[in-house]
Amino acid sequence: MPDALSITASSVDPALLSLPWSLPLGEWPSSDIVSLPKGLSRHLVRFSSVSGRVVAVKETTEQMARREYDMLGNLARLDAPCVDRFAVIAGRTDAAGEPLPAALVTAHLKFSLPYRALFTQVLRPETATRLVDALAALLVRLHNVGFFWGDVSLSNTLFRRDAGAFAAYLVDAETGELHEAGLTRGQREHDLDVARTNIAGEIMDLEAGGRLEGGVDAVAIADGIMESYRSLWAALTDAETFGASESWRITERVRRLNDLGFDIGEMSIEQAPDGNRVSIQPKVVDAGHHQRRLIRLTGLDVEENQARRLLNDMDEFRVRISRLGDDEDMVAHEWLTRVFEPVVKAIPWDLRAKLEPAEVFHQVLEHRWYMSQALEKSAPLAEVISSYIDTVLRHRRDEATVMGPPTETMAIPVITSPIPLDDDEDAGVDWRDLV
Ligand SMILES: Nc1ncnc2c1ncn2[C@@H]1O[C@H](COP(=O)(O)OP(=O)(O)O)[C@@H](O)[C@H]1O
Ligand SMILES: [Mg+2]
Repeated sequence: MPDALSITASSVDPALLSLPWSLPLGEWPSSDIVSLPKGLSRHLVRFSSVSGRVVAVKETTEQMARREYDMLGNLARLDAPCVDRFAVIAGRTDAAGEPLPAALVTAHLKFSLPYRALFTQVLRPETATRLVDALAALLVRLHNVGFFWGDVSLSNTLFRRDAGAFAAYLVDAETGELHEAGLTRGQREHDLDVARTNIAGEIMDLEAGGRLEGGVDAVAIADGIMESYRSLWAALTDAETFGASESWRITERVRRLNDLGFDIGEMSIEQAPDGNRVSIQPKVVDAGHHQRRLIRLTGLDVEENQARRLLNDMDEFRVRISRLGDDEDMVAHEWLTRVFEPVVKAIPWDLRAKLEPAEVFHQVLEHRWYMSQALEKSAPLAEVISSYIDTVLRHRRDEATVMGPPTETMAIPVITSPIPLDDDEDAGVDWRDLV
């Protein structure tokens, strides 16, 4: 007598039971499958929909599924950027009673894309560098909370747009280990080494498929992760020594860390026995300094660079327009209702799945800048928005989750945007990566 189907989840959605668990994932009918771009993987991963939400289903052993489920729970507790766990399904059997693999179910990360779907034809060096920088920043954050990844790669990472850069999320925690007391240098170096090797391989793969811009050096791009990681790690963790009279250096260090997006949990300060020298050693709690400030002021939950961009616009608004002076909370409310919301609401319903609102806002600001340059005067916001919608947004593919008709049959528009947005190379999906 086979075991009954068992579902482990922090809150079980009964709709999970309606998925065809008695069929191998590879044989699920297309009516249960959502076509979305997907990275390369060892296991079979497919997307499905549960109560209107898209989930990723990965077939693996029960032990592996439970381990990864627990790890994702720990990472969420530590506020590390990763996909949200949803459930573990075990005890599956087919119609003949034969056992089927267990499944790990995670929530599809909205507006995220695997690296291969971030560009249409060829990967340009600037995009590759931004991807590698985002991965380096993710690795620093994971290492900072004591997570050893073991299998760092572009394929095990999801990317979201973040005001011209990318924000990276861990998607595959299968090989990870958590050492909350902190990682050794050897463990961190091991991850970096794996990252470099994997990224070089992944970019060479693109090269072999004719998807890397000519003349780009795959190995040099992969090597970029070392420097990017090391300089960020040093900025966060290095001890600094200065003369006792230069105590402003403490404030300065805090400000630099804030500028990098990090907050400080504690700072240990030690005075030399002669009293002339002071050493400081910051302990960084987490990235998201601007994110947290923006949430506090406006309730908007966005990526770090987007938050920085929005806060800058808010500051500019305070200086140029608002008569509320220095009351930050009131200025923030006024900016939200007079600037941010009108832009977001001006986007027609049928175009809202194209890009996340904060990214739309960032692009509208860029568009305003280009238009004002061309006009040699400040372009009115209403004109900027309608020009942006017609010349840029309308031609993008959707980046929220694409539901409904199989995506393979959708037409891919070819765009030449008159406005040189810095990520204008990404107007289509490589349909070879679809399920
Ligand atoms: N929650 C998720 N949201 C979006 N994409 C996902 C999610 N889970 C998996 N994927 C996609 O599936 C791919 C493979 O998943 P992964 O966990 O790396 O499988 P494997 O352990 O077999 O390598 C990822 O590269 C990613 O594109
Ligand atoms: Mg993987």
